[in-house]
Amino acid sequence: MFKSYRKVLISAVLSAATVSTMAFAADTGASHTYKNGKKVIDGGVTYPIKSGKTSVYRVNEDTLKGGFTFGRKPTPNEIKAWDIDVMPDGTGLPEGHGTVEEGDDLYEEKCVVCHGDFGSGGGGYPSLAKGNAYEGQKTLKNQRTGPDMDGPIRVFGTYWPQASTLWWYIKTGMPHPAPLSLTNDQVYALCAYIISINELKIDGEELDDDYDLNRAKFMKIVMPNKDGFVPKIDGPKGLDNAREFFNNYKNYGNGTRCMKDCFQGEPKLARIKVEMKDFLPPMSVARDLPKEEGQAKASPGKAIYESTCAVCHDSGAAGAPVFGDKEAWAKVTKKGIEAVYKNALNGKGAMPPHGGKMSLKDDEVKATVDYMVSKAK
Ligand code: HEC
Ligand code: HEC
Repeated sequence: MFKSYRKVLISAVLSAATVSTMAFAADTGASHTYKNGKKVIDGGVTYPIKSGKTSVYRVNEDTLKGGFTFGRKPTPNEIKAWDIDVMPDGTGLPEGHGTVEEGDDLYEEKCVVCHGDFGSGGGGYPSLAKGNAYEGQKTLKNQRTGPDMDGPIRVFGTYWPQASTLWWYIKTGMPHPAPLSLTNDQVYALCAYIISINELKIDGEELDDDYDLNRAKFMKIVMPNKDGFVPKIDGPKGLDNAREFFNNYKNYGNGTRCMKDCFQGEPKLARIKVEMKDFLPPMSVARDLPKEEGQAKASPGKAIYESTCAVCHDSGAAGAPVFGDKEAWAKVTKKGIEAVYKNALNGKGAMPPHGGKMSLKDDEVKATVDYMVSKAK
């Protein structure tokens, strides 16, 4: 049920944005290939746009009639490329394998800088292990803060109820600076290593260096906190469980209902404990965009940019040079402004001719290009 919901969501996202599934085309079965060093979907098929120009995205025909029309149906391959989550029941978990030792080497190479030796964490980065997961595990049912508050240590081995999340998390999110860069075998190897440093067993077996983790073995992992994670949110009753849990005021707060004069003196309110306070985001996502200019100086290209081009160029959808990104635009303008005008007018790759709005006059497109270039200086 959750899965099909995701698909609907994906279609909605795709039709809202028209664009860029490229980054998500991981090798979990989606058909993709490489072209000019870039991963492309739909087997590298390109679709005609106009005058012999093509795009890797199937362009909404209405776009070419003038005006930018949002949305089109994603192709089955695009959906497949997005649909790469792994469920506790094994749905989405691909075949593959890797040993603890291979995982150890990969860990040293790609993960240790942030997650520390043996997953010790530190410096604001989460620990991936804290010794024996069975001993560190205590039921989450008792997660409220208070004198007798006692919960499991919040690391993978002790806290996470399902191992599938580990596979998926690493595959899609790690290493942090290069998500989706690992092969399936590498992910299995890293999982094997992380499971071994958490001292978890699989089917009663300890994981020594030669242990070769594959899909079948992965499916046998039973996490120690499988049933301590309250509310229990997986399975067909997941939603009901969550509702029941959160509808019972005794499960959080200080256990008493209060609508009036609640905070006389010291409030005794206790909250569900969230122990992420020592976590600092490692990277800034702030963009150093140039300051907005006053109305008087507004360029004629500004309005067109905002109505027609921003949809792709604000986010860098489909590889569009991002508005205000000096480096990206320096690369674009290196070949000379005339060539850039030409590309904006005729299209280039996933950039549609006239930005998809054929009713724009050539001069208007050029003025918009000027505006975009000027904002990235
Ligand atoms: C540049 C730093 C960096 C590198 C390198 C890195 N990670 Fe992470 N990792 C993070 C950060 C930051 C988080 C927390 C992200 C969050 O909570 O949003 C994280 C979270 C995780 C988690 C979830 C931990 C938890 O309990 O919530 C796992 C598992 C993980 N990383 C595995 C890996 C693996 C495996 C590698 C190597 C392939 C790796 N990471 C490389 C920064 C990094
Ligand atoms: C549907 C998404 C989309 C829209 C809408 C769009 N662009 Fe682009 N644009 C792109 C992409 C993708 C590229 C990168 C193409 C490449 O290098 O392969 C690009 C590249 C460009 C470039 C650089 C061309 C070069 O020489 O490398 C310019 C200039 C440009 N766009 C101007 C515009 C203008 C002006 C508009 C609005 C009138 C616009 N774009 C609307 C997607 C879009």
